Formats: sequence, C-alpha cells, structure tokens
Amino acid sequence: MISEDLFNNKIKNMSNYIMFVIKARQVELTEQLKAKNRAPIPLSMGAPVERVPQFVIDKAKEYLDTDHLHTYSTPKGEAKFLEAVSQRMKKRFNVDVNPKDEIFSLIGSKEGIANLIRALVNYKEDEKEQDVILIPCPSYASYTQMIKAMGARAYAIYLNEQNNYMPDLEEVYQQYLKEGNDPKKIKALIVNYPNNPLGCTCTFDYLQKCVDFCNKYNILLISDSAYCEMYYDEAYKPHSALECKGAADCCIEMHSISKTYAMTGWRLGWACGNKTAVKMLSRAKSTIDTGIFKVLQYSVADLLVSEEGDKYIEEQNIKFKEKIQGFVDGLNSLGYKVKMPNTAFYLWVKIPDRFKDCEEFATALLEKSGIVVVPGTGFDKNSTRYIRISVVASNEDLAEVIRRMKEDGFYFEEK
Ligand SMILES: Cc1ncc(COP(=O)(O)O)c(C=O)c1O
Repeated sequence: MISEDLFNNKIKNMSNYIMFVIKARQVELTEQLKAKNRAPIPLSMGAPVERVPQFVIDKAKEYLDTDHLHTYSTPKGEAKFLEAVSQRMKKRFNVDVNPKDEIFSLIGSKEGIANLIRALVNYKEDEKEQDVILIPCPSYASYTQMIKAMGARAYAIYLNEQNNYMPDLEEVYQQYLKEGNDPKKIKALIVNYPNNPLGCTCTFDYLQKCVDFCNKYNILLISDSAYCEMYYDEAYKPHSALECKGAADCCIEMHSISKTYAMTGWRLGWACGNKTAVKMLSRAKSTIDTGIFKVLQYSVADLLVSEEGDKYIEEQNIKFKEKIQGFVDGLNSLGYKVKMPNTAFYLWVKIPDRFKDCEEFATALLEKSGIVVVPGTGFDKNSTRYIRISVVASNEDLAEVIRRMKEDGFYFEEK
C-alpha cells in the first residue's frame, strides 16, 4: 500500500492552493446556500466573467479546421506566436525582444514563474542553507508556495501606504544583512505591478530602481506583468520593466492573456527579456512539457496584433472602472472605507473590528450570505484584518452582494 511517506517532504507538508480550497468549500455548501436563497457568488479567484473577444473565437474556429495545427508544438512556441509577441511588446511598450532567443511561450504566467524558480534555486531542506527570493508582501499566494516547494525561502518586502507601495530596496537589503542572512543566497527579486491583491501600481522611476538594484547585486529581476493591461486612468498606465535602462542584463518579464482578455481558461502567456534567463527557462521546461496547442497560439497571435484586441482592452477597462467604482460605492455605503484601485480588479478590504480575524469574517460571509472572498492571510500571514475581494462578477451579482450584506448585517459598524 502506498503511503504519503513515499513522497517528498515539501509536497507532503504543503496544503492545496488556497483558491482551490475555498472553491471546494463553496461547492460543498452550494445546495445548502441555494436552499436559503444565497447561491454562491464567487469573488475569490481573479477570473473575469466577461465574454472573450469574438475575434479570437472566430480565429480559433478557423484554425481548428486547419490540418497541420493538431500536432506537437515546441516548448519555445510557434514562430507565428513569438513574432506576434515581439510586435506586441514593441507596440505597447516600445521594447525590442527578439523571437529567436528572448521570448518563450508559457502555459500561463503561473507555470512560467514556477518553472523559472525551479531553474533558479538549488533544492535544500534546511532553511539556513536555502536560496532566497525576495517577494512583495502581500502578494499572489502562489509565490511563497512555489518557492517553498522548490526548497527555497521567500523573503518578504512589505508594500504599504507609508512607502507608497514602492519599498526602498537598499533599505530592505541592509535589513536582510542585519538579520544575519547571506547575501550570496539571494537569487531573484519578484516585482508585481499592478499588484495582486492591493490593486496598486508603481512609477517608471521605481521600475528603474528595481533594475538598478538587480544589476548592482547580480540577481534576476522577475517582473510579473499579469495585470499590465488593466488600468483605469492613463496616468497609471503600467510600464514594462524591460523599458528600463539595463533591463536586458537582468530582467525577465511574465505576460499572460488570462486577465487582459478574460481568457483564464485558455492558458497562454509568455516570458521575455534576458537571454540567459530565457535559455534556462527553456531547459527547465523542455523536459516536462511539449508546448502549447498550436490552434491556441495561432489565434492569440492574431489577437495580439489586431485592432480588435486593442479595442477590447479599451472597452474592458471602461467597463471594469464602472463596475469596480459601483461596488466600491456599495461597500462604502455599508460603512467600509475602500478606495477605488488604479489598476487590476482587486479590493483589499479592512474587516469590521467585531470579527476575530479575516478567516472568521470570510467564513461568515460565505456561510451566511454565499459571498466567496479570500482571507488576507492567504497573501500575507500578518494581514489578519483584511480580505481580498475580486471584483469579477456581473454587475447584477455585485449588486446582489451589497443587498445580501445589508440584509445579513455585514455593516462595517454593527447596527
Ligand atoms: C500576480 C499574478 N501572477 C500570475 C497569475 C497567474 O496567471 P496565469 O497563470 O493565468 O497567467 C495570477 C493569477 O491570479 C496573478 O494574480
């Protein structure tokens, strides 16, 4: 009989990814909630429910009917896709990335980051021996898990209102040394602007500082750009870290179609930038996957360089701005103090004092009202007084959330 002991310590001791744990709980409670007119409204995962661009559906249908597109692709990506990515990066950011050796296709940015970390760190059981990756905090729950699973250590860099979500990296480095940590263990800095879960972004000058910092200490800059097309004010239009001086020497950037085109289920993205990092990612990936369905690559290639794609992004941003603002107003009418984010579609919401912590609050919202959110501790173990709300549901569902919160007594101050 096979037991869990057969498997490696890291995996054995790891929990399932928080979003799927929450989803499983939601499924478990669905019938019960429906019976009391509280069918679950998921505001947990960052998965927009908008219709994907018609353009890409039409293209996919056309390519599905093409004979030669049904065989293995290559891990690197089809020439047509890589060329389209190169054109897109040039048009959107004025960045030159060569399809030959500076771009690599991904099964979404999550997979890309995980495999890059795998390529980067040496697996060690003992924490003192482990390689270190600097990560923003709070941040995408997967970073810490991926790093831990690879036998490395995540070192948190705190983003908060005081540092305007752009922490001084030199200060962080000095603090890291003061704590007795080994500078040679640092392998990479992950930055994520626009940020999940805070919905904030950074200035171009700050990205330049990140690049300078990584070049100074010879570490890799991993820029997670999953939300770079979601902004609600031209003043906050996100930059690519690859626009910075010296970026080609140290930076690899992850992009994805998931959030931009509401195509989370299609699973396609790309890494681009520093040649060495792309080469090492290629080594790590080519042993375990054989590339992405060509039909998907071809149809997205057309989308990336199309007028239709750009128009879709523009229209989505107008819709999201209205949707998020309406929901922020609704929450604030219940006494919450939530600010409209400048980018992405997340709200980082302080919970009422009467709840012990964010887990208790999130559980109450789910079990009483069928509203599915994520406790702040999923993104930072110290964020016990926050929840993350993903404003991705339809306008009707979002209005229903506010109605239920009112009816079920989820005011910020008890009435
Ligand atoms: C910051 C961040 N990076 C990466 C991802 C993964 O996106 P995908 O793998 O769909 O490209 C997410 C998804 O929520 C995210 O929030």
